Amino acid sequence: IPVEPFDLVVFGATGDLARRKILPALFRRFCAGQIPDGTRIIGAARSEYSIAEYRDKLAADLKKNTNDALCDANVLAAFLQLVTYVPLDGSAETGWPALCERLSGRGGDERVQVFYFSVGPALFEPLAERLHSYGLTSAATRIVVEKPFGHDLASARDLNRTLASHFDEGQIYRIDHYLGKETVQNLMAVRFGNMLFEPLWNSQYVDHIQITVAETVGVLGREDYYERAGAMRDMTQNHLMQLLCLIAMEPPAKFDPDAVRDEKLKVIRALDPVEPYHIVRGQYAPAPGAVGRDLNYRETVGNQRSSTESYIALKTHISNWRWAGTPFYLRTGKRLKARSSVINVMFKDAPHSIFGEEAGRHANHLKIRLQPNEGITLSVTIKEPGPGGMRLMDVPLDMSFAEALGPEGSEPADAYERLIMDVVRGNQTLFMRGDEVEAAWGWTDPIIAGWQARGDVPKPYESGSAGPGDADLLLRRDQREWRGIN
Ligand code: BG6
Repeated sequence: IPVEPFDLVVFGATGDLARRKILPALFRRFCAGQIPDGTRIIGAARSEYSIAEYRDKLAADLKKNTNDALCDANVLAAFLQLVTYVPLDGSAETGWPALCERLSGRGGDERVQVFYFSVGPALFEPLAERLHSYGLTSAATRIVVEKPFGHDLASARDLNRTLASHFDEGQIYRIDHYLGKETVQNLMAVRFGNMLFEPLWNSQYVDHIQITVAETVGVLGREDYYERAGAMRDMTQNHLMQLLCLIAMEPPAKFDPDAVRDEKLKVIRALDPVEPYHIVRGQYAPAPGAVGRDLNYRETVGNQRSSTESYIALKTHISNWRWAGTPFYLRTGKRLKARSSVINVMFKDAPHSIFGEEAGRHANHLKIRLQPNEGITLSVTIKEPGPGGMRLMDVPLDMSFAEALGPEGSEPADAYERLIMDVVRGNQTLFMRGDEVEAAWGWTDPIIAGWQARGDVPKPYESGSAGPGDADLLLRRDQREWRGIN
């Protein structure tokens, strides 16, 4: 969908996220012809760069962070012409008059102006206040805020209150980049674009659902943040929760922001509290003989007594009409043996085997691979070939995005490309609403408080393994097993 020329100010423009994600995403959209002439992209940060210096640094970052083929010198030069820089202090007055000047002559209040807060939450309020006091806001202003959106329910409420005192909810875009992933949006297409699955998508036919987000990376480079967050706050409260919502929600009447977000909110509100014995926390440690600071969580963060989890597995239920009785198993961790985000919908056995138990039973199983090797596999039961009588076996009906869709499927657009353009278009469907974030913290807080009260220490697991053995036990106790990495 084409957009009109717009202004986008990135606060924190010299930070890691802006350099690795936000500006490369804008550049790729520019290469795709989606950013019209007349658009102004303004980097703002404390460093005293001139525009020329900033452009040089940006060009180097873009060459590093985007596909070489895109970095044709002319295209890059044309993009850099749209970009300027203002040295600015978010919590003082330095630089603001210059920003006002840069944004002046904007051609009326209709022009979309996006202010991207790619900064720590402590700066949200000072930035919001100054945007107002310097007269930089209008009805066409949108602000984008990054996770972590709070550290717990109380701090998330404070942030919401702060932002609400300056902006309408319709102007606030809270990013969860998982919602921008092609394959995550595809969850809704698979569920609500087919007749095949939805009639079976409930506790009567689904035995259980597993959501796995496994990573091979550690926390090197983000030690301070991660040591305060852990896997529960860093991944579970937001990304896994969003996946759970999309898998479990009722069909919204329309694909519009409030219809979708209302349904997600209902899922979070229906989540049961998690029993302590349904949670496994782990922390990566080196395998015997392995050396390297990044293989050892405690060494990485420089705290030999750290009780922050780099892995979590848990079992929860959604107490509503559709899902009562169906367990949802969630797990995520760092330094695991493979990078794999996958959702497994495990259907129940057929109620009766006409072939007799000796033929074997194979329940259907829908595997949705979010990354990598994006695709969907549905396992179906067939007759084992051969003359040996009726024995059943499992075979996959496999759809790989790369094979089915060609280059577009094998290299899905980065989540930030989609999300930033949605902000410009004014579409909030893939952004979290304030009440949704608060509800997610409302579910998370008691879990964290529980393990803190118990003095729970995470179980060590070997870097490069499938995680702590207790996570397997969590399912084995229910006569089930993890699918995917194990
Ligand atoms: C971020 C987390 O939100 O998501 C990181 O802070 C994590 O710890 C990352 O590594 C995972 O994102 P992706 O897109 O690589 O799956």
